[in-house]
Amino acid sequence: MDRPTAPVPPPGCPAHQSGGRVPLHGPEFAADPQAYYSYLRHYGPTAPVELAPGVEATLVTDYATALQLLQDSGAFRKDARRWRDLNEGRVSPDSPVAPLLAYRPNAMFSDGAEHLRLRQAITDSMARVDSRRLGRSTEQVSTYLISQFGSRGSADLLGDYAKQLPLFVFNELFGCTADIGDRVVFGMTGMFDGVNAEQAVGVMFGAIGELVALKRARPGDDVPSWLMEHSSKLTDEELVHQIALLLVAGNEPLRNLIGNTLHRLLTHDAYAHQGGLIDEAMDDTLWENPPMQNLAPHYPTSDMEFAGQKLQAGDLVLVSFAAANTGPALTAARQAGSNRAHLAWSAGPHACPSKEPARQITVAAIENLLNKLPDVELAVPTESLTWRPGPFNRGLTALPAKFTPVRTASRPTPEARAEAPSHHEQGPTRGRGERGVWSQFLNWLTR
Ligand code: HEM
Repeated sequence: MDRPTAPVPPPGCPAHQSGGRVPLHGPEFAADPQAYYSYLRHYGPTAPVELAPGVEATLVTDYATALQLLQDSGAFRKDARRWRDLNEGRVSPDSPVAPLLAYRPNAMFSDGAEHLRLRQAITDSMARVDSRRLGRSTEQVSTYLISQFGSRGSADLLGDYAKQLPLFVFNELFGCTADIGDRVVFGMTGMFDGVNAEQAVGVMFGAIGELVALKRARPGDDVPSWLMEHSSKLTDEELVHQIALLLVAGNEPLRNLIGNTLHRLLTHDAYAHQGGLIDEAMDDTLWENPPMQNLAPHYPTSDMEFAGQKLQAGDLVLVSFAAANTGPALTAARQAGSNRAHLAWSAGPHACPSKEPARQITVAAIENLLNKLPDVELAVPTESLTWRPGPFNRGLTALPAKFTPVRTASRPTPEARAEAPSHHEQGPTRGRGERGVWSQFLNWLTR
């Protein structure tokens, strides 16, 4: 297939300054990524992009081409130790994109039989999460968070709510004690906010190591214990890395799925009068503003031609879920009623294994918020909202909202109180000083 010649960037487009590669970083991209995707489509099904200064990649923007790549695990591999530009020193290990793209021994970066073994342990353990328990714990966390700001009549629904909620729900599912859970929250928050990221990663891995030791000694009704029981027989090191993967792969996109869906509900009048509005708004968000906009890094196993593009073994190739979902060819399929055919969860052997719990947490979190704050609305003009920079995740920096102040019935349910002591009995804070937000939540649960 003949590849079209590279399009000329519009005047002012930063592609002029990046050696013809279109930068997916910086404030212009964050302000309007869809304008960039429209432009990138002029290159054909794939386009040359820059993920951070000096980090080059090929981005697949076309839906059918994306599926072809995601399903061809013979020609494309996930193991980032194949990444030529990193191996040959053109990308520094200190690059801002390295923490997400560099190899770790987990399912996300594995191929073939090793991937199957790790992934099976993950899917089987996540399948043991009881949906009633998940619904109850999401509602409890949600009610607690609302009780912290409800009487103010205003809140940042991102920082005060969407960001915190998945962290607490995960701590509950993973059976984290007060001390361990506080450090997981500290580590995850530092990693995602980029504040002392290296220290944060150390704190998080340290806490997960302790969690693994604790669950080996005293297994519980939680995801780490189920991973340990699994016939894949994961070693302690493998356990630490799969638990870290679940936390990292789960928290940030969940925060953004809740945030982006709330944003949609608060900025589109169309949902106001529909039944089932949250599901509808979430599906529309997954199509048009997915939490992971560009990811699925893959590396060709040999020099090849792919969708008219010459690739060398070890080149970094990513999929733009956001561009593939919004391509003109897909609009017809979507209108024909296949409302879940989007790529927001990726596809193929590495597709998200946890979309059902992720959907359930998102819907329950938003439902409880809208029930408790029925007149919630945006507190600032839509145009003043800003989005976090970076090529991978798509999420707001803040979502300021206002509502009639409420005194939430902030008592936990009897079931929650009955379950809470299992966290507390293992949970001294070991003299580390001030209690963290997770300990405060556990105190609230049992007061
Ligand atoms: C309960 C919350 C979640 C958990 C525990 C979770 C877990 C995971 C795991 C373990 C993987 C790696 C699978 C593999 O490589 O075989 C993965 C992949 C993925 N997840 Fe999720 N996830 C969650 C929520 C989400 C959400 C909300 C989204 C966005 C809509 C999402 C989108 C994706 C995508 C696009 C991939 C493929 C990434 C890639 O190949 O680079 N996930 N997820």
